[in-house]
Amino acid sequence: MCGIVGILGQRPAAPVILDSLRRLEYRGYDSAGIVALDGGVMDRRRSSGKLSALAELLEAQPLAGTSGLGHTRWATHGRPVEANAHPHRAGPVAVVHNGIIENYLDLRRQLEAEGWGFGSETDSEVIATLCAAFLRRGLVPEDAAAATLARLRGAYALCLMFDGADDLMICARRGSPLVIGHGEGEMFVGSDALALAPLTGRLTYLEEGDWAVLTRRSMVIHDAEGRRANRPLHHLEAGDFLAEKGPYPHFMLKEIHEQPGVAARVLGSWTARGDGTVTCDAAGLGWARVPRLTIAACGTACLAGQVGKIWLERIARLPVEIEIASEFRYREPPLPEGGVTLVISQSGETADTLAALRYAKEAGQRTLGLVNVPTSTIAREVDVALATHAGPEIGVASTKAFTAQLLCLLGFTVMVARQRGTLDEADERRWIGALSSVPRLIAETLAAEPAIAAAAAGALAPASDAIFVGRGLMYPLALEGALKLKEITYIHAEGHAAGELKHGPIALVDATVPVVALAPSDGLFDKLDSNIREIMARDGRVLLLTDAAGAARLGEAAWRTIVLPDCEPFLQPFVQAVAIQLLAYHCALARGTDIDQPRNLAKSVTVE
Ligand code: AGP
Repeated sequence: MCGIVGILGQRPAAPVILDSLRRLEYRGYDSAGIVALDGGVMDRRRSSGKLSALAELLEAQPLAGTSGLGHTRWATHGRPVEANAHPHRAGPVAVVHNGIIENYLDLRRQLEAEGWGFGSETDSEVIATLCAAFLRRGLVPEDAAAATLARLRGAYALCLMFDGADDLMICARRGSPLVIGHGEGEMFVGSDALALAPLTGRLTYLEEGDWAVLTRRSMVIHDAEGRRANRPLHHLEAGDFLAEKGPYPHFMLKEIHEQPGVAARVLGSWTARGDGTVTCDAAGLGWARVPRLTIAACGTACLAGQVGKIWLERIARLPVEIEIASEFRYREPPLPEGGVTLVISQSGETADTLAALRYAKEAGQRTLGLVNVPTSTIAREVDVALATHAGPEIGVASTKAFTAQLLCLLGFTVMVARQRGTLDEADERRWIGALSSVPRLIAETLAAEPAIAAAAAGALAPASDAIFVGRGLMYPLALEGALKLKEITYIHAEGHAAGELKHGPIALVDATVPVVALAPSDGLFDKLDSNIREIMARDGRVLLLTDAAGAARLGEAAWRTIVLPDCEPFLQPFVQAVAIQLLAYHCALARGTDIDQPRNLAKSVTVE
């Protein structure tokens, strides 16, 4: 979603801000802008579309000055046109804002009644106007900012600057993250640490409700009650933010190929004792007595949860409810006494998932988070945070975070199963032994990339619609395959439980709609075989993702067959996940879409 950069610097600010905004491109945006202060005088450039358009504008009309603000906007209130792009200005105030101001219409009406005009359709512009109105009443910037924040309802991360004050920036956080970076005689603000990576590794994260007054050499933080607050200084190494594509044309492909290493890292953390048993910070929750686990998440993270539900129910005999986070809170379901809620999130900032977590806490549940960004809001608010160790994921389409979530969920399942007595110590060691083959299995699946790429370009890319089917563990994987494909290729894709096809969706099947069948030769293969033949009998063209035994049985009848590594049935999600990621990637490549920043999508969805 939107990205924020603020700089009180010693060098020309606009190029540095533009470079930092590029590091935030992965979050998804559709317009951008910068203000800079030169000798205290503020000037602004904004444009719709990609940062290259803003860069061209700055080339033609450069901005001077060593301090300023930058923003990439993902449209919510108002179309992605220049007039709606941030920074917004009102009188001497400029603001950049992430989040949604829920009472903006009331505020706007009040300000209009006082004679203030508005140049955009956004909720954000009222922040600058309200602050300007307080300045006009004689308040100094700090007091005007505090008075403004007190009037805002909703979620925000924001930064304010003021004409005539090129050594002052005021920033605030409520519901959206914001980090302050400390340089040598310079101060920076970013909506995530990645934005500031080349500038500094010395960071202070604002906490919920904090606001800060910054100059080049000073930082004063106030908490939600207005008291002075001290927040810890974090030191990040350059490697912590590595966000380079290296030899890969896209972050998504790089992240797909990182998966063997990620899996090895995850395994290392789950088997840290080195004695063949699982190490897990959630072990203290007494799983033998937990009546039910509720999992809440969005998108791909929710699909990882669906796979986890199957493992937990089958292996650990723990009842699990899986919830789409955006529905969970508003349905107000009763949660069992002694229950645990697990939220899963790559970013740790997804607004719906965060709201689900807060609902569960209010309902007296103990909470667990499976989160990739350790400094995120969700990681901080859960009782126990489990790290997914995938490293920064930049491509909008989640890949390595998904497989890392899966591997953590399987390790977690083994721990829970031991406590519930469905596995004994010898079983646990056998499971850990089996899990250690995951990095190799992923690497072997990556070796099938040329065959997958050929099928993607030749069979899937020309289609307008596609269907993914699977049974058991392969059903959530089929949903994930369809999600990946539609996200980056814009092909209409649906995922279905294979047995459910004949109850409706099979009406869609004809020779123009490829059906991708996730078909490992597991205990459900016979059933799936029948479903696949029902599709073929209706001229359906089946692209089979299977193993050697499956290919021997169905390969001849299928339209295309891709042979993937053999493995234990419960490890199949890792093999199939990588196959569907490569399928979507190469299909998008053939169609020439914007793979790392697909249209309309944001990496971190911080609005409900
Ligand atoms: C995955 O490819 C998606 N872009 C999306 O579904 C994502 O998984 C979802 O928005 C949840 O994000 P989170 O894991 O950061 O909470």
